[in-house]
Order: sequence, then structure tokens, then C-alpha cells
Amino acid sequence: MSKQHTLIMPLDMHLHLRDGVMLETVAPLTSYTFSGAVIMPNLVPPVTSKEAVIAYKERILSACGYEMQENDFMDEDGLGGGDFEPLMTLFYQNYDEGFIEEIQDEIFAIKLYPAGITTNSEGGVKSFDIETMRPTLEAMERLHIPLLVHGETDGFVMDREAEFMSIYELLAGNFPDLKIVMEHITTKAAVDMLDKYANLYATITIHHLLITLDDVAGGMMKPHLFCKPIAKRPEDREALLKIALNAHPKVMFGSDSAPHPQDKKEACGCAAGVFTAPIALQLLCELFDDHGKLNNLQSFVSDNAQSIYGICPEFKEVTLVKEAFKVPEKYGNVVPMYSGETIAWSIEDVL
Ligand code: DOR
Ligand code: ZN
Repeated sequence: MSKQHTLIMPLDMHLHLRDGVMLETVAPLTSYTFSGAVIMPNLVPPVTSKEAVIAYKERILSACGYEMQENDFMDEDGLGGGDFEPLMTLFYQNYDEGFIEEIQDEIFAIKLYPAGITTNSEGGVKSFDIETMRPTLEAMERLHIPLLVHGETDGFVMDREAEFMSIYELLAGNFPDLKIVMEHITTKAAVDMLDKYANLYATITIHHLLITLDDVAGGMMKPHLFCKPIAKRPEDREALLKIALNAHPKVMFGSDSAPHPQDKKEACGCAAGVFTAPIALQLLCELFDDHGKLNNLQSFVSDNAQSIYGICPEFKEVTLVKEAFKVPEKYGNVVPMYSGETIAWSIEDVL
């Protein structure tokens, strides 16, 4: 019999679902195998109001085939109704305390983008002036709302994340009770930063554990592997692998699955984002199995996030099997990572 592995309540702690037809295509692919996902707010326009958060959550649940339930967010047993919980985020701006108090029950976290650094981030932070940001960040600290950060400067593309480390230090040092998550880390510099501050955490994608810049641009240009932050050097990937495979307690899986229509990827201006949602768990199983670390996957893909955020997801049990799976060429008009290729693990069953 083929080797099997069961994961309990997988969580994707960083996910782009978009809206409209794209949302309808991609949301069910995540809600099928994940108990919950942290939903990014970089829509056009970005999600900056209570009404927008509630309406977007409703559209997500409807795309997954669920109805919105009254007060279903963070009910007494954790994440709420249904067997997939969208954990909603608000797009960071310098909000006043009253607004944050009013919206706190509707959101899981606030996502900060430096202005213009990636897809739909033009309305993000232009200057990291701590005194300007202080009222918002202190309110978040007091209300226990985590800050999720896209940590890149506008410097040379390979150095952007490492250059951002001083801003993480500024944030983590000035707001010691604020939970700060370095999203989709790609460098050894970020791995080294993780243990310097008690209030710093990180998410890691599956693609940054698998590829380096060589895979993106070392041979023929691979638009479907182009994302931000861009994949880095082998030594960076090694540093990421070490903490992910050993399920360092401050790291969580966050796919950063970021679908774009095929014509926006296969274009002269290629949109940034790798679409991995439907194959993320299969690839994680393959990677952890190849390194003899399958026993640590449960922590990386669920338990660490539960402890870090104090959440208790709805029950879901996903059994994977080491049997070849041919990745579809496309899901709707989105081309996934490893499109048309065969990967080693498949989803066997979801309970
Ligand atoms: O590659 C990326 N795609 N990185 C981001 O930060 C945003 C994302 C997107 O929204 O497409
Ligand atoms: Zn993202």
C-alpha cells in the first residue's frame, strides 16, 4: 500500500483570493482542504472599511458554497461556523483608535504594504515614521490585533527584504506587545531576525522552499514562478528549509498563493504571484517526506499557527497518499505552479 499521511485542520496563513470570477474559481480549491486561511486585503480598491470586510467575507463564503452566519467569527470554540473560515484582514493605513475599536470583531489582523511595492499596494505606507504610525500601532497592541507585514524596501530587488530588517527592528522594538508577522520570508536575514524579538513571527510559502532565482530566471524566463518577494539564493532557501522542516515554533505555513489570469502572467509586464493553492499540501508532503521530516508537517501547517494566534479551527482531516498527481494545466484561466507536471503526492480523502 502507498505511504499515507494525515493532516489535521491545515491552515493557510497568507492567501490571495481576489474577487468576482477569479474568487469563484480559486476559493473552493482552498476551502476543500484547509480549515482556515488568512485572506489578503489587496483588492482594487483595498479593503479599508468595516462594510468592505464584511461584504468580502460574505462573497468568499458564498464562493466556497457556505452561507455567512451571524457572529460566526471567533465563536467560543475558535474560528466559527462552516468547515472553512476566512480570517479577514484590513489593509493598513494610519487609522484612528475609534475606528479600530469598531472594526476589531470583524478582523483577524491588519496587513501592511509599503506603498507601491507589489500588486495593488499603492495605498500602502509611504513613510515608516514611527510617530505617525504610533496611534494605530498602539491601538492594535492594546486590542491584540496582529500586524502582518510585506517586508520589502524599494531597493535593489535581491536586497529588498534584507534592507527591510531595520524597519522590523523599529516596529518590534517600539511595540513589544504587538504581534508582528514577517510575511513570506525569503532570506537568511529574516530567519536570523526571527529569534531576536519575542514578538516577531513569520510565514513561509511552499514555492520559496522549493525554488531559487535560478528557477525563475536562470534559464528560460518562467513567468509562473515570478513573485514578490522574488526567490533568492540557495543559502537563503537552505535557511528557510531549516526552520520550516524543523517546525520552528515561530513559523507558519502561508502559501501566498496569488492567482492572476494567464494573459497577465504571460505578458511583457508579468504580474507577480505564484498560484499554488490546489497543490500546496501535496507539495508540502513531498518536501517534508523527502527530508524525513513528515512528523513536523502538522506543526508547520497548523499547530504553530494555532498557538501563535490562539485559534482553534473547525475540524477537518486531510489524508494524503504518495501516489502521482498530474497537476492540471489550468484552473479556469489561472496556470498553477508545476502546470502539467507530475508531483509525488495526492489528496486521498478529506473528512
Ligand atoms: O507575488 C506577489 N503577489 N506578491 C505579493 O506581495 C502580492 C501578490 C499578489 O497580490 O498578486
Ligand atoms: Zn501575499
